[in-house]
Amino acid sequence: MLRRALLKAAPTRRLFSPSSSSSLSVTSLRQSSSSSQIPNSHFVEHVEDPPQPPPSATISVDRSNLYHPPEHSHEPSADSELVKHLKNIIKFRGGPITVAEYMEEVLTNPKAGFYINRDVFGAEGDFITSPEVSQMFGEMIGVWAMCLWEQMGRPSRVNLVELGPGRGTLMADLLRGASKFKSFVDSLQIHLVECSPALQKLQYQKLKCMTDEGADGNADKRCISRLAGSAVSWHATLEQVPTGSPTIIIGHEFYDALPVHQFQKASRGWCEKMVDVTENSSFRFVLSPQPTPALLYLMKRCKWAKSEEIANVNQIEVCPKAIDLTQEIANRIGVDGGGALIIDYGLNGIVSDSLQAIRKHKFVDILDNPGTADLSAYVDFDAIRHSAEEIPDVSVHGPMTQSQFLGSLGINFRVETLLENCNEEQAESLRTGYWRLVGEGEAPFWEGPEEQAPIGMGTRYLAMAIVNKKQGIPVPFM
Ligand SMILES: C[S@@+](CC[C@H](N)C(=O)[O-])C[C@H]1O[C@@H](n2cnc3c(N)ncnc32)[C@H](O)[C@@H]1O
Repeated sequence: MLRRALLKAAPTRRLFSPSSSSSLSVTSLRQSSSSSQIPNSHFVEHVEDPPQPPPSATISVDRSNLYHPPEHSHEPSADSELVKHLKNIIKFRGGPITVAEYMEEVLTNPKAGFYINRDVFGAEGDFITSPEVSQMFGEMIGVWAMCLWEQMGRPSRVNLVELGPGRGTLMADLLRGASKFKSFVDSLQIHLVECSPALQKLQYQKLKCMTDEGADGNADKRCISRLAGSAVSWHATLEQVPTGSPTIIIGHEFYDALPVHQFQKASRGWCEKMVDVTENSSFRFVLSPQPTPALLYLMKRCKWAKSEEIANVNQIEVCPKAIDLTQEIANRIGVDGGGALIIDYGLNGIVSDSLQAIRKHKFVDILDNPGTADLSAYVDFDAIRHSAEEIPDVSVHGPMTQSQFLGSLGINFRVETLLENCNEEQAESLRTGYWRLVGEGEAPFWEGPEEQAPIGMGTRYLAMAIVNKKQGIPVPFM
């Protein structure tokens, strides 16, 4: 996303205070001598009928791990469906949820997730991505895919998979740009991995799809993109994409949407940061009092890091879904042949505290009105490399900056060719788009309003390839 040089709005992160036990007067406390009794600190029962004598003692109960429901009220709740859902999970589980679970619900909850029901891209939406900035981005990815296809020995059938295609702009530009290379486009079976029904519809339109009813008019419906005559199908996960053919996988700004777990160094060791509900019914961060399952991934991640790297940070983000997805990609490529290209913003090392929320092009608090802002985190490219390298038969290349990647694939020649055949308005848009894709900082040529100055993404975004070793080194990583 074009994350402008905005200062990150520092959300107040109120952390769990371990000594929050409180005294509670109760009229009756069910007690049992049985060894299977529920510990007193978790079980408080108020008995009203028949009337009981006044309590003879005040009993101290540790409530720090209990959910505190807000006062009962007949006022209609202003909470959205998603907020109610999140609060219910916390309530019925009897404790806070991980940041990763929160992020996953916020982005992809099937009813009310941020991506599920609407178009969030572009000036009218919440953020803008490289394919939306300029057609040259998708065209250059097409050049990369064609070069890999050549290195693969020009197979006659290839699965071209895009993870999280957004509006479908990258794939549309790729197909338009490649349409003259008939044997390449004729080999393609396009598979779009997309969780959002609303975005699937946009992708269908963007790829100018038509549905062929099939011979018997129902079961064998096939969808064809009129941009290149290739068959297109949609899947909720990569696992659902058929195996058995060489595969080219593109993941642009997909990994940054995968849920991250956040850990914080405390006096008792690394503790997972969780999301809880306060007594006045708002969300807050707390630290888990016990070890959590994601600690296993933290340990795995730390094994890949140098000790100085860990010593220098007080927080660490880990993304188990990124590790698992990378291994799934690497396994598939190792068996079927082909390669994957991952482009995203991130670091080539441990990511400390990068999770951010963006609504209408502005940074907002991560816990504010969940479902109405995009959540994303920096991609840990070093973790991706280590995950892929655990799989035999694949090699990992990069990361290199987006600027180096697009420059080596020939974006300079492409922009010059396009500039030869356009009017002044189109030329302005091409120059701005070019700067956004490969520049660094504010464009020096900009003469318009300061707040609209194009900001380059050329060095903040990184590109990495995972390929089957048989193919050798992919362009432009030689
Ligand atoms: C940040 S957008 C990037 C869109 C596009 N690649 C671009 O660059 O414009 C993330 C995309 O991934 C999809 N997505 C996010 N999480 C997903 C998941 N778990 N499974 C499938 N699609 C997902 C979103 O619906 C959206 O299309």
